[in-house]
Amino acid sequence: MAVKRIVFSPTGGTDNVAKLIANNINKDHSTIDLCDSTLDLKKIRIDKNDTVIIAMPSYGGRAPSIAIN
Ligand SMILES: Cc1cc2nc3c(=O)[nH]c(=O)nc-3n(C[C@H](O)[C@H](O)[C@H](O)COP(=O)(O)O)c2cc1C
Repeated sequence: MAVKRIVFSPTGGTDNVAKLIANNINKDHSTIDLCDSTLDLKKIRIDKNDTVIIAMPSYGGRAPSIAIN
């Protein structure tokens, strides 16, 4: 079981909180940064046994969403 942190955090506040939570579960977690424009979303793999922390702030009353294939 892997711990994965998926974050959208343009100014870093949400990322800091998500990091604290993920480190508390497992310091060896991996990070998927949705602000990274070079990130290939199709290469993201999530296993049914993984623990995934998804963190994003609210902008204009909305939160960005992610598509998982
Ligand atoms: C353009 C803009 C719109 C925002 N809209 C909201 C909002 O609707 N509700 C809210 O609670 N915070 C809103 N915020 C505050 C952000 O959620 C807050 O700054 C957050 O900490 C940014 O997260 P980040 O540091 O992970 O990028 C807004 C901030 C900006 C710059």
